[in-house]
Amino acid sequence: MNHSVISGENVFQELSRFVTTLKPTSVFILTDENVNKYCLPGLLELCQILKSAVVIEIPSGEDEKNISIFARIISMLQESLADRNSLLINLGGGVICDLGGFVASVYKRGIRFINIPTTLLAMVDASIGGKNGINFLDAKNMIGTFTRPGGVFIFTDFIRTLSAREKKSGMAEILKHIILSDSVKWKEIRNNPKSLEDDKLVELIDFSVKFKTQITEEDFLEEGRRKILNFGHTIAHSLEGFSLSEKNSLLHGEAVAAGMISELFLSNKLAGFPEQEMHDAVQFIRKVFEDVLINPAPEVIIPFLYSDKKNTNDKIAFSLLKGIGRPAGIFYPRIDDIVESLIFMNNQFSRDLVQ
Ligand SMILES: NC(=O)c1ccc[n+]([C@@H]2O[C@H](COP(=O)([O-])OP(=O)(O)OC[C@H]3O[C@@H](n4cnc5c(N)ncnc54)[C@H](O)[C@@H]3O)[C@@H](O)[C@H]2O)c1
Repeated sequence: MNHSVISGENVFQELSRFVTTLKPTSVFILTDENVNKYCLPGLLELCQILKSAVVIEIPSGEDEKNISIFARIISMLQESLADRNSLLINLGGGVICDLGGFVASVYKRGIRFINIPTTLLAMVDASIGGKNGINFLDAKNMIGTFTRPGGVFIFTDFIRTLSAREKKSGMAEILKHIILSDSVKWKEIRNNPKSLEDDKLVELIDFSVKFKTQITEEDFLEEGRRKILNFGHTIAHSLEGFSLSEKNSLLHGEAVAAGMISELFLSNKLAGFPEQEMHDAVQFIRKVFEDVLINPAPEVIIPFLYSDKKNTNDKIAFSLLKGIGRPAGIFYPRIDDIVESLIFMNNQFSRDLVQ
């Protein structure tokens, strides 16, 4: 069964109708302190049916996607007598969607849940496709399940209160979707960076939602085509793992932007991605993320690559491309090539931008 993604003007009416049809015994809303402040009041105002929901608030941030918070949410559900016919609504960014989806997929062997994404990143990516989970011992998404939400309800106005940095973080996944699927759109965007500005966001969200939905419906369990979505993410997850262990903040999208640069280099070296096209793409991504500073020594990143869950037999898996819009499949580069790609990435982030 595919889950539906609803957006547009009538999203709250659709949400109210959906919740009514489910006839849950009780409704819980999982959220964090920022979303509680900026988005929850609006949701309750426009969706009266949720007024009696029990709100579970956790602190915000990637650090909270961990097993103790998971256990705390389970205890709260248990204490509030949530039963198998209860409904969990994940209202927040990717952290809330991942964590709440995981809780719902295992609490009493699974209860129904809905995602209402409030960050750009969660709207275009994390809320869709049914992957959920938590980090464990600094390894990203080490524990989790594939479980579809009952529905995803996207209200794009929530983005208004998002910081510029968080908004840009979401842009990384949009760029990834375009690089993976559409050379014409990519050219348009490169030629006209204004097309990434706020007034074009709804259109970009729509594009990304359609792409991610289509791929994840085709290959829900990531046995084939869905693997292309991991482009940029092998390096990204190791950078995030490192950043979690260092307790400094690197946002998911920032790590994905850096990861795409490294993996474009590998795509050129191993999968035939044209050299000039690679440099153009790298320069564009770097320009969008010009404020980001990343310069980790390759030897501190490599150990994190070995705990990536996509690996087989200790070989580090990368999803590479042979051109824009042309995924090339899975590659297992030699460690020397990976180190070279990390040095390439570091050079991009430490040199002055070419205008
Ligand atoms: N499951 C998937 O398919 C998938 C895909 C991509 C990313 N992810 C995961 O998503 C997570 C990153 O998600 P994220 O970038 O949304 O981070 P996030 O959930 O931490 O949200 C970012 C910050 O924005 C705040 N916030 C959220 N909505 C807001 C709003 N409307 N106004 C003001 N502040 C708001 C949050 O409180 C938080 O501080 C990572 O853990 C990543 O692994 C999952």
